[in-house]
Amino acid sequence: ELLEEQNYLLELQDKLAKHLDIQSCSIVPGNFDKDYKILSTMAERTTEIINHLLGEGEQIIAVMGGTTLNEVANHMDANLGYNRELLFVPARGGLGDDAMIEANVIAQRMAQQTGGQSHGLYAPEHVHKKIYEELLKEPEIKKTLEIVESASLILYSIGTPIEMAKRRGLEEDTLKLLKEKEAVAEAFGEFINKNGEVIYKLSNIGLQSSSLKKIEHIVTVAGGKRKANAINAYLKTAPSHTWLITDEAAANEILNGG
Ligand code: F6P
Repeated sequence: ELLEEQNYLLELQDKLAKHLDIQSCSIVPGNFDKDYKILSTMAERTTEIINHLLGEGEQIIAVMGGTTLNEVANHMDANLGYNRELLFVPARGGLGDDAMIEANVIAQRMAQQTGGQSHGLYAPEHVHKKIYEELLKEPEIKKTLEIVESASLILYSIGTPIEMAKRRGLEEDTLKLLKEKEAVAEAFGEFINKNGEVIYKLSNIGLQSSSLKKIEHIVTVAGGKRKANAINAYLKTAPSHTWLITDEAAANEILNGG
């Protein structure tokens, strides 16, 4: 019976990777929406995959924020740092998330857990275009952005739009716009519709989703049936060498549903 379950999941992984046109999917059994423990299983699987993908020596890992990545941080340990000098950097400046799940803090925690280093990116997001251009000239910010762009692995999650808009305290008008334009997903501060088109962009400082494809390893982790549409839409635009870690419920919903 165990073998049957394993075969079923392997088949599902293949189907999902083909459907999303990406390199690889890893699916953990269950539904995160109904069982909080699934988050921990996905996080553990994510750490294993990162360990498998990364080479030895100096490795730069760019990370985003969020509750999912916070859990991935909980599962990282010295094993990941073994034979490597890890440097964790936030892929973007603050997105107005709670401090605990901010990319800066997550990068710092990952460094602590693995015996690596981290580098902060402290830049306000909502600034006037002129100030933004000036900020980009600041040596400290420039240096961090160069490090981010040279990362060998990027780790991010995908969110549902209204939840993310609310978490970041966006105005009622913006919420209305997101509904009107039928936003289905958010990642990297970009809100997209079901065709993968960016309909609203939140932030500027940090990795642009357009430079994602230059990064050698791309790992995304998101699960629960409620995130199915978001995952499906976002991965339509994702580079084909992306690895997805998700759960069975999201996988089935993507393949059979919407
Ligand atoms: O805030 C960073 C971020 O990675 C978003 O880009 C993404 O939409 C969200 O977090 C996912 O959050 P959570 O893991 O809490 O669902």
